[in-house]
Amino acid sequence: MAFDRDKARDIYNRVGAQVAAGFNCTLSALGDELGLYRTISDHGPIDSVGLAETTGLDERWLREWLRHQACAQHLDYADGQFSMSPEAQAIFADEDHPLFFASGFRSVAATYPAFDKMPEVFKTGLGLSYDDHGEACACGVERMSSYVQKKELVPKILPELDGMVDRLGAGAVSADVGCGAGLATLAMAEAFPRSRFVGYDTSRHAIERAQENLAKSSLDNVRFVNPLDEPMPDTPTYDLVTTFDVVHDTPYPDELIASIRASLAHDGTWLCSDIRSFPTFEQNLAEHPAAAVLYGFSVMVCMSASLSTPDGAGLGTLGFNEAVAREMTEAAGFSRFRVMAYGNPMNNFYEIRV
Ligand SMILES: C[S@@+](CC[C@H](N)C(=O)[O-])C[C@H]1O[C@@H](n2cnc3c(N)ncnc32)[C@H](O)[C@@H]1O
Repeated sequence: MAFDRDKARDIYNRVGAQVAAGFNCTLSALGDELGLYRTISDHGPIDSVGLAETTGLDERWLREWLRHQACAQHLDYADGQFSMSPEAQAIFADEDHPLFFASGFRSVAATYPAFDKMPEVFKTGLGLSYDDHGEACACGVERMSSYVQKKELVPKILPELDGMVDRLGAGAVSADVGCGAGLATLAMAEAFPRSRFVGYDTSRHAIERAQENLAKSSLDNVRFVNPLDEPMPDTPTYDLVTTFDVVHDTPYPDELIASIRASLAHDGTWLCSDIRSFPTFEQNLAEHPAAAVLYGFSVMVCMSASLSTPDGAGLGTLGFNEAVAREMTEAAGFSRFRVMAYGNPMNNFYEIRV
């Protein structure tokens, strides 16, 4: 085949941008970790000397970091001062804003220690569990799901489930399976004090984070357990079961779905949120705006966790889409499946009933 110089230049330029993005993840994760975005956002235009005085950090390192951030167009630069636009403040500094995404850099950085283990993973086929990544993985996931779980679950998502708000208000029993740091479980427990909530997670680090978050609250209607110590009940118990980004991650999704089915009351509801994706790779390639990010997460975290046992399913981050969810839940004996109106660019939400 003839060598197309224009095509080579095009690929070369894109690779250059992606190498820059790799460095950007590290440097921006540092900005997040060190509180630099929040400081610049609060302070307004500032130079490296001012930032060093305000933070107590080393001026020369801050100067290079600030220059990088301006070149990456995260910060604005004029007259020797670095500043953040209101839009950049929302994305980098305001954890309560729906567009906050600085946690994404941290989540990528959390996978760096796994790099040296990955060649062996590709040889053996055996992936790394959530806990193999250390506590950084549970923390990264916690921050990325924080907005929806703290701000939208109770006021926007639960009211869409048939009769559920009344039921929870009156006093129901609910399980949040794969609860991670427990933000969703705690938000529901706070909103519905007459109901009781159990958060289940197989990750030691996730359960520890959930216990820490619980200790900061004064709630007495919620507890967190590892299902390896205390399995979910196998008789109809729960009025509501929730899973947020769990099924695609788990090594045995069939077993998980079957145990959710067994633990649900006959008139119970499973609120299932999972990654929005198309049924075929060709469609994801052509149409999914976040496909490269999601396949990246899949190899480094989600598919890896799902393949962390020798016979794991390995669905992958994009592997529990609507078509697969319909098929697997029907096979497990669920008879009703509805895609909820609520959704966001990353997640679909399903109301699934016995
Ligand atoms: C992507 S995280 C989501 C955590 C949390 N739901 C959130 O949205 O922040 C998936 C979680 O599911 C947990 N998990 C995977 N399989 C599980 C299972 N069979 N039972 C309980 N937890 C499970 C993992 O340990 C991990 O904490």
